[in-house]
Amino acid sequence: MEAVRIIRNEHRSLAAVMHGMVYLVREIRDRGVRPDFALLGAMIYYIDTFPERLHHPKEDKYLFRLLRMRCAEAAPLLDQLEQEHRTGAAKIRALEQALARFQQGGMSEFPAFATAVDAYADFHWQHMRAEEKEVLPLAEKHLTAGDWEAIDAAFTDNSDPLFGAESGQAYDQLFQRIVNLAPPPIGVGPMR
Ligand SMILES: [Fe+2]
Ligand SMILES: [Fe+2]
Repeated sequence: MEAVRIIRNEHRSLAAVMHGMVYLVREIRDRGVRPDFALLGAMIYYIDTFPERLHHPKEDKYLFRLLRMRCAEAAPLLDQLEQEHRTGAAKIRALEQALARFQQGGMSEFPAFATAVDAYADFHWQHMRAEEKEVLPLAEKHLTAGDWEAIDAAFTDNSDPLFGAESGQAYDQLFQRIVNLAPPPIGVGPMR
């Protein structure tokens, strides 16, 4: 079940970027660190492109769809998580707008941006936790070997043109860019 490993890895990458963003917001708020808009923008871009356009659609189309067929009790949970995939996209737009207002409007716009970052991070941590603690165990219990073959194929091929997304390699490069831009302890970029 290669897909389970990939899903957990993708969650770790996403959690790392969100954790980094929450950390940067705290540094601005508590230590008066000058905001790095290039880094914040790259982080939001990553969250928008990778999970929103690639990870979530694959969960919906393969993992959730097959689990619905095999396990009727999972339906309310899967309804809720699919709904969160849809609302997550709107939350990312709000986050982008809050960053643009902060960049153009200065510190008076910072509190709204900070609130949007914390809200998105909480929302998404809970979402990933439900998938790992509830969906994956149900999937491991109820899905067939054939189901896993289809799910594994989808998750190992991050260049699937079906989703109109860039290849997985482009996301790895973007993630690397975030690590290179971010100062310790998030990444290996210059100290500020
Ligand atoms: Fe998800
Ligand atoms: Fe997920």
